[in-house]
Amino acid sequence: MMGNQTNRQRTLSLDTGDLYVLPPEPSLQDGVVFLIRLVSDPEFMDSRVLPLLEQAERARDWYVAYRHDARDGSCSLQIFVWPAGTETKIHDHSSWGAYCCAWGSVFEERYERLDDGSRPEHARLEQAWQLWWRPEDGASTVLPGDEGIHRVGNPGESAAISVHLYGPRIGEVDGRDYDPSCDYVCDRRED
Ligand SMILES: [Fe+2]
Repeated sequence: MMGNQTNRQRTLSLDTGDLYVLPPEPSLQDGVVFLIRLVSDPEFMDSRVLPLLEQAERARDWYVAYRHDARDGSCSLQIFVWPAGTETKIHDHSSWGAYCCAWGSVFEERYERLDDGSRPEHARLEQAWQLWWRPEDGASTVLPGDEGIHRVGNPGESAAISVHLYGPRIGEVDGRDYDPSCDYVCDRRED
């Protein structure tokens, strides 16, 4: 690295200058600041978010429209598209994560784990809170494992888009998926 990049890394190929710069090995708090700047920037919205809306209105399920992983594995930037009526499974992550709603409204349900994790494929969950997130609401954050069990989706009537940043993965699996109707949990591996 050289010049003014000595203590920073260029962000994730968004290549629009200092606004989109993360420090090396960013912390969760660095990620929150970065995401809030990103979704409040008209240039980012015009170039990366608004072009996704047309396809979002036609899609049947949520999808990741853009993903860039830092070469050193320190973070992953992802743009999620949420057509109306779509949602994830209840899940956790093997990294910290933060996201900001960039367009529309995203609905999040957060869960707490009541059991001690000692029984294989067993997890007892209790819903902790539900929140709508709009672009002006800042970032939602999760910590790895039991500290960030949630479901994200869009039960509204028009498409939503959110921008996510994940930290380095801890362990081999991507996270876990939960089914509280039968107290079930399983590892989730990336395709
Ligand atoms: Fe998640």
